[in-house]
Amino acid sequence: MTTRKLTRRQAITAASAGALGTLVNWSFTPFSIGSKDQEKLAILGGPKVHDGTWPEWPVWDEAAEKNIAEMLRTGRWWRGSGEHVVEFEKKYGELLGVKRCLATASGTTALITSLKAFGVDAGDEVLISPYTFIATYNVIFMIKALPVFIDSDPETFLLDPSKIESRITDRTTAIVPVHIYGLPVDMDRVNAIARKHNLKVVEDACQAWLAEYRGKKAGTLGDAGCFSFQNSKNLPAGEGGAIVSNNETFMDRCHSIHNCGRPYGSIARTSSYPISGSNFRMQQIQSLILMSQMNRIQKDADIRLANAQYLDKKLREIPGIVPYKLADGATRSAYHLYPFRYLKEEFNNIPKERFVRALNAEGIPCGSGYGPQNKDGLIEDTISSKGYKRLFSESRLKQWREENVLPGNDKLCSEAVTFYQSILLGSRSHMEDIVKAITKIYENRDALKA
Ligand SMILES: Cc1ncc(COP(=O)(O)O)c(C=O)c1O
Repeated sequence: MTTRKLTRRQAITAASAGALGTLVNWSFTPFSIGSKDQEKLAILGGPKVHDGTWPEWPVWDEAAEKNIAEMLRTGRWWRGSGEHVVEFEKKYGELLGVKRCLATASGTTALITSLKAFGVDAGDEVLISPYTFIATYNVIFMIKALPVFIDSDPETFLLDPSKIESRITDRTTAIVPVHIYGLPVDMDRVNAIARKHNLKVVEDACQAWLAEYRGKKAGTLGDAGCFSFQNSKNLPAGEGGAIVSNNETFMDRCHSIHNCGRPYGSIARTSSYPISGSNFRMQQIQSLILMSQMNRIQKDADIRLANAQYLDKKLREIPGIVPYKLADGATRSAYHLYPFRYLKEEFNNIPKERFVRALNAEGIPCGSGYGPQNKDGLIEDTISSKGYKRLFSESRLKQWREENVLPGNDKLCSEAVTFYQSILLGSRSHMEDIVKAITKIYENRDALKA
């Protein structure tokens, strides 16, 4: 077999010149392709590239069992009677380098509490990233505000800051940039626009523990940051969340709101429940799990980063595979997922779903990212409801529908492929298998298409 290395640029040029069909045995990876890579694809009955296991998640720390058993025996299971939630808040705040941290029941309740504490109310408009978990949309609808989507930049997987200003109206009160997959948004640009238009910035950092922007931790860059500790997360506790901020008055309001509106700190004690709130409290057991999981968070983050850097380098050499690009100013991703774009034009126009199934069949678990949720039925269901029709004029909702066209986000949804964070905790040989499997699919794209 002739093995010839081709740079990505050469391969793309060859492809566009219509010559790629003759290159099927060429290697695009810097390491030599063994005979296994040339074998039949697993989806077509051939052997898998990877037939071993992958790291599992979450990883239980037995050392935490003693603390949890002791807490259970005391009967002090809720934050009102125990010390562990406060202890966790202190530790997590220190880890991020921020003055205050409030633990909450979930990332969703952290977001709702923050928006309410900044005074976001029914009838307001909130600018958000469309490429996110549905919770970011849900919290805005729960407040009866209107989510206004800022189109995504397919290269960064993040909202495109140049698209923000044209969507601001006299009802806009806040912006919720989402550091999706742990990729930090260009916060200097977002903050500058927010300052100019007097908007609050609530970072959805629910996937961005220890991600960094200009060396500072994601979640500490806007007016407030929200985190999730749900079971799948890089810092898991089954469920859980946190709000962080350096704004003491805001954090006092958050504390009060998350505790049924009871007074806290600077909140005037005018009555038993001086402000409107609900029960969004974290339990003691969640805090103990989180503190035990925090023992591994930095080490895990370093392993993910090293493996991601390896994939960044190797995957971009395969035609049609485009790893995420860090936004300007972003210095470190948290890799809740490792994302890349699959350009089907380079793979004989094989649909992404078939590529994903072929990769899974090779023993490489991967997913296809988020769909175009800005077109999801829940959106129309909500904005055509009785309440929304009372809160927003017919002409505003008409304009909103007309503007809910997001070509960048549509492109991103159609091209994104992801590896879950625990895959990135694998060994170098696991990463090599990922590269081999994608290369094998590329080299066998004619057979896959047939
Ligand atoms: C981007 C994003 N925002 C918000 C949330 C909501 O967090 P939770 O599930 O803890 O309520 C999640 C959780 O998956 C998320 O990924």
